[in-house]
Amino acid sequence: MSYFGMPSVDLLGEQIDAVLSAPSTTHGLARSLRTAAWEIELHGYHHASQRAWPDSRIDQKPTKVQIGGGTHRIEDFFNIDAVPPADLLWDVREGIPLHDDTVELIFSEHFLEHIDYPRSAKNYVREAHRALTPGGKIITGVPDAAFALSQYPGPLHPADEMVERWYAKRDCRNDINTQLDLVNLVFRDQDDDPKYTPHLWAYDYEKLVQLFTEADFATVEPWTFDPQIANPKRRWGSVYVIATKQRSRPTARPAE
Ligand SMILES: C[S@@+](CC[C@H](N)C(=O)[O-])C[C@H]1O[C@@H](n2cnc3c(N)ncnc32)[C@H](O)[C@@H]1O
Repeated sequence: MSYFGMPSVDLLGEQIDAVLSAPSTTHGLARSLRTAAWEIELHGYHHASQRAWPDSRIDQKPTKVQIGGGTHRIEDFFNIDAVPPADLLWDVREGIPLHDDTVELIFSEHFLEHIDYPRSAKNYVREAHRALTPGGKIITGVPDAAFALSQYPGPLHPADEMVERWYAKRDCRNDINTQLDLVNLVFRDQDDDPKYTPHLWAYDYEKLVQLFTEADFATVEPWTFDPQIANPKRRWGSVYVIATKQRSRPTARPAE
């Protein structure tokens, strides 16, 4: 137990590592424990940052922010990610640690599908709305589930473009045998690689419009891909939208 009566997460991590290295650990248990080990790593990074910013608001007020960029850095953007490298390590399922009405542009691609829906996804979109200035914008790109579904049903060509572009570097090509396997990968990519975070929800243009409209964004429109911001390797097969927060409404004049 820690001083505050909370069980030690570090100790739990050590126990998990020990169980994972035991040859008798079953495949099913190992899968679950690898997920837990990943969450423990994120928890460590997040709480280290939270100790520095106990009010969940950092001192800086960046005007351009990238969320979940991984190694893809964009010049002039402040990068928030759950793991290094990033300017701030923060688990955005816990909120966005930026002040209200301060950010002009938020960018993310191939991030949203990695957080759970509805709790974290909807909370993230609400938090983005809170942090944006009036008239501020958020650009979001995700794998286009409608595109994956448009190929189904049908035979899978051995040199399928989606397999070539998305999965050629991964150790899963022998297991993509039918079009439905490709649909499964977009919807619930569950790679066993301990560093791989799975897809937890699938999105298309209509779902993105609904999500941002529900969070009170004034407009949600298709975003024209700009390789100066976005990762060129994400262009193919992705859908991007740009949502704009309402400009300040003119304050009503008191009746004379
Ligand atoms: C598939 S990678 C995409 C990286 C980059 N945007 C790209 O397109 O190459 C997903 C990124 O989201 C980050 N991420 C996942 N869950 C997160 C969370 N709860 N809070 C912050 N970042 C998260 C991961 O660490 C990772 O960098």
